[in-house]
Amino acid sequence: MVKPHLLHPPCNFPIRKDELSRSRPFEPDAALTSLLAFWAEAGVDTAYAEQPVNRLEEGRRRLEAPTRTAAAVVRGEPSLVLSSVGGGVGTASAVAIARDQARAAGSLEDLAAAIEAFELCPLRTMGARQSVFSRGRPDAAVMLIGEGPGADEDLQGLPFVGKAGKLLDRMLAAAGLEGEVFITNTVFWRPPGNRTPTPEEQAICAPFVARAIELLDPRLLVLVGGAAAKAMLGRPEGILSLRGRWTEWTGEDGHARPTLPTLHPAFLLRQPAAKKQAWTDLMSIAARLDRERGSP
Ligand code: URA
Repeated sequence: MVKPHLLHPPCNFPIRKDELSRSRPFEPDAALTSLLAFWAEAGVDTAYAEQPVNRLEEGRRRLEAPTRTAAAVVRGEPSLVLSSVGGGVGTASAVAIARDQARAAGSLEDLAAAIEAFELCPLRTMGARQSVFSRGRPDAAVMLIGEGPGADEDLQGLPFVGKAGKLLDRMLAAAGLEGEVFITNTVFWRPPGNRTPTPEEQAICAPFVARAIELLDPRLLVLVGGAAAKAMLGRPEGILSLRGRWTEWTGEDGHARPTLPTLHPAFLLRQPAAKKQAWTDLMSIAARLDRERGSP
């Protein structure tokens, strides 16, 4: 294994002749690609940061973080948010700014623009290409909240468009809910390596999620997967015990909305036998929607 900082290329990176000619603007991406190619050729297969990072400590802090964090923030209890997101802005400040900006949005389009412009979610600096806010009807009766964008969503800028999203769409269509939904996530930038978003990342995005619920004003909320259920409800149970049981989610407007946690389609792709339970949940959503609309 060769460490990059032990290598000393003649300059910071190899400069190509055409870059010296000044006939076209300097391209940081091209320079980075060139530097990486130089290191790879030299046998570098591992990248190190300047300072060591204690991952065990990071994990411990995460485990000790209050499990109610994201849900508590949504309910307006930022004092539960204790840690710092780095870059000089603490999580509590980022949450407060997110809340101000979310409140200022008077429509879902405004909210999408506010999210795109929001720079204080640490996920923004971890390789995400763009923000991923929503897809579906802006007047939908059912709002689905998933975990966070994956690689396909990051590329297309829309939630649930990969393999799991296609399964979700097929299931919604089979349950007669195809044109009834608005879909978003607990975070709006792809977590690196598709890891689960941290409670801090979810807490910082939570005011935008809460505002989306207020603006859309759906009849029903559906929490797709354990990470969404945990963030929105702040309950310690796993998704297998939460799923299929109706509960309520109450926003700052005091409006309690019927809310159902269900299984994540990515889980269903790995555990097809669980589709039966997901189907039961979809039937329950369809029936509840009929009831909410006053159908017999
Ligand atoms: N999984 C999620 O939770 N959300 C997406 O948008 C895609 C996959």
